[in-house]
Amino acid sequence: MDKSRQSLAPAGMIEKLGGMVNKKRFIHSLGVMQMAHGIAEKFGLDGKKAACAGLLHDCARDLKPRKAAYFIKKYRVKFDPVSKKIPALWHSFLGEFVAKEEFGVNDREILEAIKYHTAGNAAMGQVAKAVYIADYSEINRKYHSSEKIRAKIKTKISLDELVRLVLKDKIAYLIEEGKLIHKDSVDMWNKYNHNI
Ligand SMILES: [Fe+2]
Ligand SMILES: [Fe+2]
Repeated sequence: MDKSRQSLAPAGMIEKLGGMVNKKRFIHSLGVMQMAHGIAEKFGLDGKKAACAGLLHDCARDLKPRKAAYFIKKYRVKFDPVSKKIPALWHSFLGEFVAKEEFGVNDREILEAIKYHTAGNAAMGQVAKAVYIADYSEINRKYHSSEKIRAKIKTKISLDELVRLVLKDKIAYLIEEGKLIHKDSVDMWNKYNHNI
């Protein structure tokens, strides 16, 4: 790993994550760390915080079922009826507790960024926005829409407009595929497009 990457988050944290997720996910996580840091710098946010949240955003993605059950029970995590049917969402809701317990993270903005990185949330803060965009557009994402967002990041665009474009792509994909859409994504769409 090059030095610039290492300096974005404590080496111990990076190493620990490497032992908790599969290789592809680890590489993706490092990509999100770097991208979230870059986005934060562009918009005058706390780069270290964004980098840490980016690194840890998928920390619950490869949890063993027994460990996941432990976190659900301990933190009384409740899944609404739609979430129950979207397994890809679960790691977001468990991730904040894994980050807390396994990595000693207590920062509210970092935990929120982890929690909201998949479905989004109308009330997400600035660091969460950076991670939401970075998760979709980090350098290892090869699909066309992620390349499009990467190009947009380099233009004179606002952070909220970037968030809106990512959300639009995500919702369009879900509709195209006939998949469920979580209410947090719908609320976010209404907020970012109609300020309601
Ligand atoms: Fe994720
Ligand atoms: Fe991710």
